[in-house]
This record gives sequence, C-alpha cells and structure tokens, in this order.
Amino acid sequence: MKITGKTKIVGIFGYPIEHTFSPLMHNAAFSALGLDYCYIPFEVRPEDLKSALESIRALNIRGVNITVPHKEAVIKYLDGLSKEAKLIGAVNTIENRNGRLIGHNTDGRGFIKSLLEDAKTKVKGKSVLLIGAGGAGKGVAVSCALEGASEVVIANRTIKKAEELAKYLSRHFKKIKFFAIPLEKHKILNAIVKTDILINATSLGLQGKGLLPISQKDLHRDLVIYDLIYNPQITPLLKIARRAGVKKAVNGLGMLIHQGAIAFQIWTGKKPPVDVMKKAVL
Ligand code: ATR
Repeated sequence: MKITGKTKIVGIFGYPIEHTFSPLMHNAAFSALGLDYCYIPFEVRPEDLKSALESIRALNIRGVNITVPHKEAVIKYLDGLSKEAKLIGAVNTIENRNGRLIGHNTDGRGFIKSLLEDAKTKVKGKSVLLIGAGGAGKGVAVSCALEGASEVVIANRTIKKAEELAKYLSRHFKKIKFFAIPLEKHKILNAIVKTDILINATSLGLQGKGLLPISQKDLHRDLVIYDLIYNPQITPLLKIARRAGVKKAVNGLGMLIHQGAIAFQIWTGKKPPVDVMKKAVL
C-alpha cells in the first residue's frame, strides 16, 4: 500500500480495538480494486468519543466503522441516521457526506445477505426463533422484521429484555407476530418445532465456552441454523447441528464480511470484492 497526498482515510473507532479484523478486510479490498484509500484502527476511549467524532470532519476522514462500546453512544453526535440505524438504535458505520455525519447500521443487512448467500435462505414469510436480545440480537430482529418474517420468537436469559424488544418491534411492524420466551430448555424446544430459522445472537459458544439449552435431538434436518459466533468456526451449536444432519447451518463469518462489504460500498460507491474480503479475514 502506498500512502500519497491523495490517499483517503477511513477507519474504525472502538475500545479496545486491537482484536479487530476490519483493517485487514478493508485494506485488502482497496488494494484489490486499486482504490487510493487506507483503513486505520483508532483506539477511542469513551470519554473521548465526542472529540473523536469531531475529528472526522476536521481531518476529512471519509468514514468510520464504530464498534464496542460506542455503537449507541455515537448517535447523539450525528447529523442523520439511516432507517435501520434509527430502528436498531445503534450505528456501526458513519459516512462523512461533505461534513454531514450520517449513521448507518450494516450489521443487520450483513446478516440478511449472509443468510441468503451462505445458507441460501430468505427471511420473507418465515418463522424465526432468535436467541439473544442484546445489541446483536436487536439488529438481527429488526432486519428480520424489515425483510418480512411472518413471526419472530425472541428467547433471552433476562426475559424482560426479550419482552421489551418484542413490544418495541410490535409497535413498528404491525403485521408481524413477536413473542418473548425465557431461555429455558422446554420453552426453546416447543419453539424449535414450529420454527424455520434458528439464530444464536448470544455470546454462548464464544471461544467454545457456554452452551445453549439445546441438544442434538432437539434439532430437525430442515431447520436453518445461523450462529452469529465465528470463533471457533465450528461453534458448539454448529457441532450438534452437524451431528443432527442439519443441512443448512452456518457461522457468523459471512455476517462480519458482509457488514464490512456494505460499509465499503457506502464509502466508495464501488461494488465490494467480497471474496477478497473473505480471504483476508480467513
Ligand atoms: P452483543 O452486542 O454481542 O449482543 P450484549 O448486548 O451484551 O452483546 O448481549 C449479549 C447477549 O448474550 C444477551 O442476550 C445476553 O443475555 P442477557 O440479556 O440475559 O444478559 C446473552 N448472554 C450472555 N451470557 C449469557 C449466559 N451465560 N447465558 C445466557 N445468555 C447469555
């Protein structure tokens, strides 16, 4: 990569930031398309978030990704929000539109794209069982609603969060049915029987630690399983899915790649080289 006087800067704000894959993914994509852009990680402490955002305008940074713990906190400093970002209440991508900072959320669309490409599955008209009602869960739930799922059952350890999310979504999507259930074995089992797509948006299984209250015999072969976790690549849920003969079961790597690819397109206006981005992350 050659930095010149014309190089356009993009990057990512997070705290901590050293574990991010995004610089690898985006710089590989810029390089592949011969675009004069450079993607830089910025360690931004929560108390410095406001001045970091002001620096986007001051330094004419073309855009940034936003990661933990800033995804919600950035909203009050932005000039506009996309429909998804507004509904989700979180931003993972900022576009610097001639000094106006516009917040997007590409996580949800990245999930939908990955589900389509990696699991050959459309959400429209489907019944979804979503486990997890945290930040990631909310993004997925909103995207499923925007895509026209027929029903979304939200299971969470803290039932109150699932109930609040179901209530919130019911207000915005009148034609879709939303339910909240506790993260308990028999309740999950009842829901699995009736569902088309099972999604894990909790941290259970991350680095192989923690198990969902689901066993191999609870799964049916035609279920589509999407685990947002990608580390390890074969998560505990995917392990039992394989043993149960589930045909479509994928991890969250595709979501990571596609959320990045959509951000890339927002900043550059160019079609993202998804395969290059995937190779860089792998
Ligand atoms: P993220 O941004 O990754 O979604 P989060 O907002 O902290 O992170 O949400 C984490 C999700 O994992 C939540 O659904 C959380 O359940 P609670 O809302 O009850 O906290 C879930 N989770 C984390 N650890 C869990 C555990 N040990 N058992 C069950 N659920 C867990």
